[in-house]
Amino acid sequence: MTFVLAVLAALATALMTASVAAATNGGLTPVEPASPNATHIKTTYWVIVGFTAMIFFLVEGLLVVFIVKYRSRGRDRTIEGPQVHGHARLEIIWTVIPVVILAAIAAVVFSLLPKISDAPASSNPPIQITVEGHQFYWQFNYPGGARSINTLYVPVGRVVDLKVVATDVIHSWWIPALGGKIQAIPGRTNHSWFMAERAGSFPGQCAELCGVYHAAMLGRVVAESQAEYDAYVNPAGIGPTGNTSGAATTIGKQEWEGVCATCHGNLGEGGYGPNIASNPIIIQPAGLEHIIRNGVEGNIGVMPPVADTWTDEQIRALDLYLKQHIYKGSNQ
Ligand code: CUA
Repeated sequence: MTFVLAVLAALATALMTASVAAATNGGLTPVEPASPNATHIKTTYWVIVGFTAMIFFLVEGLLVVFIVKYRSRGRDRTIEGPQVHGHARLEIIWTVIPVVILAAIAAVVFSLLPKISDAPASSNPPIQITVEGHQFYWQFNYPGGARSINTLYVPVGRVVDLKVVATDVIHSWWIPALGGKIQAIPGRTNHSWFMAERAGSFPGQCAELCGVYHAAMLGRVVAESQAEYDAYVNPAGIGPTGNTSGAATTIGKQEWEGVCATCHGNLGEGGYGPNIASNPIIIQPAGLEHIIRNGVEGNIGVMPPVADTWTDEQIRALDLYLKQHIYKGSNQ
């Protein structure tokens, strides 16, 4: 009876997990890579899963066979089975095989590691971008001074060299389709890289518990054409089709949506942080700048110094956005 129950439980588990495995990567296996380092990480993953799955089925299969084959068959409990003492050949085999398996895994991993950690040589110089982890958003600093919040714009096919930093607590930069995690640690600069092999939007998530809105720290990389990238980072912010979608014209909106709205609500109506839509401080540039650059430690909670690394242009862009889109007047 117990055996039948065990088989039923095993079958039920297999059925339940099969649907997960059949769904798009199921959330359990690496996503479809879009960068060489992510491809090598995926290969490493499947090599190790291959060996461990083989061992799992061998061991569990033998366990079931032995349970069935050597069951008591009504023998008296006091009757002992045959007494076996050692088997040199068997013991050598089951020592050598694991050694060979471990050596094979090590060989694969050590041959792929340099290709995961080092960017491939390229005729085009890499683009240097600084990734700043903040409570609770990502900021990207591009060559030439352009910035973006939560979405990193890059051209397809170019190596992007990342300097990963933080000013408050530890965060972890992770875009699964574009490589492994790298921590953003205050007082330290970490390095990573990726090269988007196709256009697309690649989602990620801060992978280090960093405070109440850790879960809201969703980063994203948008890989697009060189022309679209150039339009984003160029100071005029005029795209190839004449649209104004560049950093200069959208940074205020990005700051509101990616930084302020997380705690104060999409319309400033309040959330974890207080209602600010009708607080006149948000249209007083000097007072506002002091608060967002230095943070506030009040009796209703702590506001992090969200703008501690912002440029004056960024501050002005937020002032303008608040005035035009958020402030509702102090009498409401
Ligand atoms: Cu930043 Cu978790």
